[in-house]
Amino acid sequence: MKDLDKYYDVNRSMWDQFAKINVDSKTYKTEEFLKGETSLNSIELEELGDVSGKTLLHLQSHFGLDALSWAREGAQVTGVDFSTEGIAISRNLAKKAKIDARFIQSNIFDLPDVLTEQFDIVYTSYGVLCWLHDLKRWAQIVTHFLRPGGTFYIAEFHPLLWTLDNENPDDFTFIRSYFPLGRPYEFDVDGSYAESDIKIKPQVDYEWAHGLASIITSIADAGLQIKFFREFNKAPFQMFPFFKKRDDGYWYYDHPEIQLPLVFSIKATKE
Ligand SMILES: C[S@@+](CC[C@H](N)C(=O)[O-])C[C@H]1O[C@@H](n2cnc3c(N)ncnc32)[C@H](O)[C@@H]1O
Repeated sequence: MKDLDKYYDVNRSMWDQFAKINVDSKTYKTEEFLKGETSLNSIELEELGDVSGKTLLHLQSHFGLDALSWAREGAQVTGVDFSTEGIAISRNLAKKAKIDARFIQSNIFDLPDVLTEQFDIVYTSYGVLCWLHDLKRWAQIVTHFLRPGGTFYIAEFHPLLWTLDNENPDDFTFIRSYFPLGRPYEFDVDGSYAESDIKIKPQVDYEWAHGLASIITSIADAGLQIKFFREFNKAPFQMFPFFKKRDDGYWYYDHPEIQLPLVFSIKATKE
């Protein structure tokens, strides 16, 4: 337990710094969002469908762009993140964009102690699961916050990518285990993935590997009915230096024959 507290404290302090950097980064297009553009991608927009009039709980909402974009789509949004800075920026952006949304600062694992409502939709996306030590508990929390008949949706980077070296400029090379080690990986960090020009004081972060089977089984074991599980050969971000952007705005591994899963999505309901 002591170790877990340490892991989450260290990760939170990193995300506090990242939130301040990312809001002004080229990767996250905050200015475009403030001019009225959505930060959401066609994958989640098409797969989640019409959210108007629905209550939506966004888990790990970072500094709020996607949560606020769902609010613009008509959902009544509650965003949750453990980063104090992320929540402060989210509230500030909501005010600037004149969007009505609520943001709560909490570790996902403490959320049942803080929030008592249930929601039509629980949503989470891109870069979330590696920060969580216990997917079984995570899926139980997702279920806890869904009303009967409610929908859970996740679009996330494929765990296969986790095994690969994203600094090799030429091609994929395996450097990490697909299966969990039973302890987190400790990575050195000196800047945000979203902005290579700005450095932070070097520190470590802690991340957990989760294979697809454990993600899917956690959701099913928590009592949700899986409606679909999909894999995509495209990603909304340039995750590897050799990815190529196509006209549809997504990044691809540009090989004539080999296509790999870069993103997966799951929709599930609470009966
Ligand atoms: C890569 S970002 C998610 C970005 C997301 N696609 C969005 O809507 O912008 C991951 C987020 O998870 C948050 N986070 C990490 N561990 C968490 C935890 N245990 N509880 C709550 N938030 C957490 C971080 O603060 C960060 O904002």
